[in-house]
Amino acid sequence: MKDYNPETFGELKADDYDAYCEGMERETRDSVAFLAALAAGGRVLEFAIGTGRVALPLAATGLEVHGIEASEHMVAKMREKPGGEAIPVTIGDMADARAEGQFDLVYLVFNTIWNLTTQDAQVRCFENAARHLSPKGVFLIEVVVPDFSEYVDGQRVKARWAEKDAIKFEIAVQDRVAQTVDFQRIVMGETGAQMSPHFMRYSYPPEHDLMARIAGLELRERYAWWDRTPFTSESKSHVSIYGAREG
Ligand SMILES: C[S@@+](CC[C@H](N)C(=O)[O-])C[C@H]1O[C@@H](n2cnc3c(N)ncnc32)[C@H](O)[C@@H]1O
Repeated sequence: MKDYNPETFGELKADDYDAYCEGMERETRDSVAFLAALAAGGRVLEFAIGTGRVALPLAATGLEVHGIEASEHMVAKMREKPGGEAIPVTIGDMADARAEGQFDLVYLVFNTIWNLTTQDAQVRCFENAARHLSPKGVFLIEVVVPDFSEYVDGQRVKARWAEKDAIKFEIAVQDRVAQTVDFQRIVMGETGAQMSPHFMRYSYPPEHDLMARIAGLELRERYAWWDRTPFTSESKSHVSIYGAREG
């Protein structure tokens, strides 16, 4: 997708992001409990901190939480919330940007590794995470396992709803070599068409493990979800924890 860069997500979605996340309260609570236990009182850094959906309740547990985020619009939304002014954020690309100091936990959740739209950028993100870790620090990612079962010939068109004078549908077009998906959610009605684009590069758990290895890390733990459900070949998502490679 042309002209889709790291700032685009926030430019298009910052105003609606928190409304979009309504209904995720239980997931957010479970992820915060998991991350707080993993951090064990140490310093924490969220890559792509967004509007603070996870970072704010995590900071409220007493942890020192920092962030890196590409979009000033997303961070501005976090700053409006209680506690949002207190979280130090570096504006920049999580593939390269540097936050001050070392961290015992760096995490990147909600499929956001896919917001890095090339393999090179995803590898650099792992390397950047490794650069931020204290000697015992860990890097956690939470991502869905790609599923193209609804695609035909690398494409999917999905109706969301149809009313008398308006329709909502989605179009996704896959590039199997670049592992990218061009995505549009479209609402058409009397006032015309509103589009909500997204561009992502999907990646599978074994590729994440390889990226970790390139970054000098290795897989320590992998679960299917925040409740520590065991990860299997049937799992629809993974929560993976990487630490410095030993030996
Ligand atoms: C799905 S939201 C996740 C926000 C937050 N982590 C959460 O879980 O609610 C994706 C976030 O990634 C940010 N983002 C996209 N590309 C980025 C990049 N290259 N570097 C840093 N942040 C990026 C977007 O601006 C947006 O805030």
